[in-house]
Amino acid sequence: MGAQFKDQVIIVTGAGDGIGRAAAEGFAAEGGVVVVVDVKGVETTVAGIEATGGRAIAAPLDVRDAPGWSRLVDDLVAKFGTIDVLVNNAGVAVPGDTAADVTEEIWDRIMDINAKGVWLGMRAVLPTMRKAGKGKICNVASTAAHIGLRDAAAYCASKGAVLALTRQAGVQYAPENIQINSVSPGTTMTGLQRDVTEAQRATFLTLTPINRFAQSIEVARTILFLCSEGSSFVTASDLSVDGGMVAL
Ligand SMILES: NC(=O)c1ccc[n+]([C@@H]2O[C@H](COP(=O)([O-])OP(=O)(O)OC[C@H]3O[C@@H](n4cnc5c(N)ncnc54)[C@H](O)[C@@H]3O)[C@@H](O)[C@H]2O)c1
Repeated sequence: MGAQFKDQVIIVTGAGDGIGRAAAEGFAAEGGVVVVVDVKGVETTVAGIEATGGRAIAAPLDVRDAPGWSRLVDDLVAKFGTIDVLVNNAGVAVPGDTAADVTEEIWDRIMDINAKGVWLGMRAVLPTMRKAGKGKICNVASTAAHIGLRDAAAYCASKGAVLALTRQAGVQYAPENIQINSVSPGTTMTGLQRDVTEAQRATFLTLTPINRFAQSIEVARTILFLCSEGSSFVTASDLSVDGGMVAL
């Protein structure tokens, strides 16, 4: 165990699985108190962290729930007095998401979770971070924010919004010592890939110069870096973790 995030209060959304769970485990292994936010899988992540001697708190929450965000932040501030890090990672993708065919209901669902949920999380923690005069926020975007992925119209739009909001908020709060960045993962072997067909997977591989897909831990390590002291002069920035995909 390291101590890079010793006693820091770190919220990770979508931490019930995939990249979020790997990030939560990484923060806990470095001494952080990890607040595990998700609509499912929360207890499993917390149990896994506690089994290795780490500290984690279960926080079942839908990132679209604005009053729920307020309650969570109020509880954490009452208990710990601070929130050091927020990782806005929760996200969804839905098959058949083309501009011609996506339904209004699915469009709204993707935008509400992937884009509005990121803003709601930032809005909830920023007053505490501003008061403290410090904070780190890492939003999880995607290669979909940079290139036109097939069958991902609302998804691309939502991740483009994450990128733009990261840039804007990063600039806005830079003078207050709050660093806000994003990561843009390429194809990563998580549950999000469950509906991807073999043909789509083969296409993704040809688009990935490194010639393999990422494991969650590889994205998680970059998230940890962007939330650490080591990235003290990095803000309003996006880091691609995509095996070279957007550079192709
Ligand atoms: N896997 C990839 O190839 C890939 C590529 C680029 C970007 N991403 C992004 O990485 C992030 C994590 O995805 P993942 O690949 O680990 O997928 P995942 O499905 O394994 O994990 C996503 C988690 O988000 C949670 N979630 C969904 N809706 C939620 C809501 N409304 N409130 C709270 N939690 C919610 C899910 O329950 C799930 O546990 C997402 O933002 C995704 O868009 C993934």
